[in-house]
Amino acid sequence: METAKNSNEFFERVLAAGAILVNIGDIDILLEQILTEARFFTNADAGSIYTVEDNLLSFEHSQNDTIVSRGERIPYTRYTIPKTKDSMAGYVACTGKLLNIEDVRKIPEEAPYSFDESYDKMAFYRTRSTLTLPLVNNRHVVVGVLQLINAKTDKREFIPFHSTMELLGKYYATLGALALERALMTRTLLMRMVNMTEFRDPKETGPHVNRVGSYSVAIYDSWAKENRIPDEERIHNRDVLRMAAMLHDVGKTGISDLILKKPGNLSADERKTMENHCLLGAEVLRNCESSFDEMARDIALNHHENWDGSGYPHGLAGEQIPFMARITAIADVFDALSSARAYKDPWSDRMVTDEMERLFVNKFDPGLKVHFSSQITVLREIKTTYPEQV
Ligand SMILES: [Fe+2]
Ligand SMILES: [Fe+2]
Repeated sequence: METAKNSNEFFERVLAAGAILVNIGDIDILLEQILTEARFFTNADAGSIYTVEDNLLSFEHSQNDTIVSRGERIPYTRYTIPKTKDSMAGYVACTGKLLNIEDVRKIPEEAPYSFDESYDKMAFYRTRSTLTLPLVNNRHVVVGVLQLINAKTDKREFIPFHSTMELLGKYYATLGALALERALMTRTLLMRMVNMTEFRDPKETGPHVNRVGSYSVAIYDSWAKENRIPDEERIHNRDVLRMAAMLHDVGKTGISDLILKKPGNLSADERKTMENHCLLGAEVLRNCESSFDEMARDIALNHHENWDGSGYPHGLAGEQIPFMARITAIADVFDALSSARAYKDPWSDRMVTDEMERLFVNKFDPGLKVHFSSQITVLREIKTTYPEQV
């Protein structure tokens, strides 16, 4: 990450960061990008982002250049902590005030908040300066907290956050909060469509589609990195894919309960009707007006096509199958194998990887095998992030 050379460049970076946020529709991708962009313009070594729900702070995402430069990975994780004033993020969430702390080890005893050293100890990291900003919506409600850690110089020395960052950070956090509100609404609308599908097919649950969306992004990220996809294109694609993959089975809303909920095997005719869910999904998503509509339609129509041409509904083969549908197919099958279903227990990790290996011979794009395999740990972490509600 390069540092801004002068204040003009710094202002330009803040403005450009804001422009990127308003174009992101998916909430998970947006949270990650709010943090990435803020770290970029403040030149922060690390950071975390939280959302606020009632009395809880939900830890959503963290980044840390020092840890990554050691060749370690930041795990994909999500957890909640009580929204109380005794942590720095909690204080900011409760009061709506920003905190700019030069050295977390010199926080006065009388301060209501203190620094929790446990993460530093666990990760062999040393937090010094922090800038913690509230994401406040237009109803003056704190909807998230952005915490930036260790501003640094070009020589990677950790320094305090300059006071200019406070004002610009506030401006940026307001843009972030507005984008967050809009992304929340989009997620709610998508989940309503998914809930309608779930009435018909109990396998198509909210956690299942969230997992499929996140797995697809993880596989795409690996592919995009190897293929050096430019940032702007990569950010756009992962955003649209995260949402579009969720609707892969939306066509099942048009399939009869008699078939979807039938115990035991389907007859040949019933199977044919069932296979129609791809065409129905494409029908629901017709009149493509945006890249989201177009990708969602491609995925709904083609997620059961096979690399060797043996799939349905059109028997497309190889690169005739749209790329994002090839990715989503891998994610959907991986989730079906590794999850419990009414008719089966979840398969063991070993059985899942063996079966996926076998399916890469003729069902899945063989060029994506390396990206699936390299992301397997991430996929398993994503799985625990979206457990089935019982
Ligand atoms: Fe399907
Ligand atoms: Fe599915």
